[in-house]
Amino acid sequence: MLNIVVLVSGGGTNLQAIIDAVEAGEITNTRISGVISNNKNAYALKRAQKHGIKSLCISPKDFGSRTEFNRNFLEAVDGLNPDLLVLAGFLVVIPPEMTERYRNRIINIHPSLIPSFCGTGYYGLKVHEAALLRGVKVVGATVHFVDEGTDTGPIILQRAVEVEQGDTPEVLQRRVMEQAEWKILPRAIDLIANGKVKVEDGVVKVVEDDN
Ligand code: GRF
Repeated sequence: MLNIVVLVSGGGTNLQAIIDAVEAGEITNTRISGVISNNKNAYALKRAQKHGIKSLCISPKDFGSRTEFNRNFLEAVDGLNPDLLVLAGFLVVIPPEMTERYRNRIINIHPSLIPSFCGTGYYGLKVHEAALLRGVKVVGATVHFVDEGTDTGPIILQRAVEVEQGDTPEVLQRRVMEQAEWKILPRAIDLIANGKVKVEDGVVKVVEDDN
């Protein structure tokens, strides 16, 4: 059984996709042992509570220094005994100690086809604004392992989404969520939970089903 802890900062639609997929049996061999947010008002916390999932809030604002936050954050995560950390719209930098301790056991969903429109400053709507400004015809989402960089870890799954005439950043964001994020994040968790994801020389190999 894969114990996962989901880290959130906002609305939690990706968390909801994970919860729904576990409850529907589309993600197997997995238990959501907790949800952590840095934002006490994150609707994602309410989604967790509605499903009886342990949730807690820990924010850098509650501590005198980032070092102190990092130590308490790591302690809170360890306390939930996770096998896998899932960043689902989590906007706080992961401390290097956590990346080290959970090497290739932290995954993130990013709303672009990495290496496009990613890295520092590319999050939320900004990603879609940049894509529309550049005039790309295809966007999408990426699930990747988290390393010391920003959106730089080994790529696990990607899914492409068409840009349509007249798209606004909000409309495009929603299509990317519906057609890509909410599909590939649960799928990535199910693959990991069933031992089908390996990292070899920084490249992910996914063992597809026989059928
Ligand atoms: C999503 O667009 C995700 O790609 C990005 O942050 C947003 C989180 O949305 N990392 P939600 O909180 O899952 O609704």
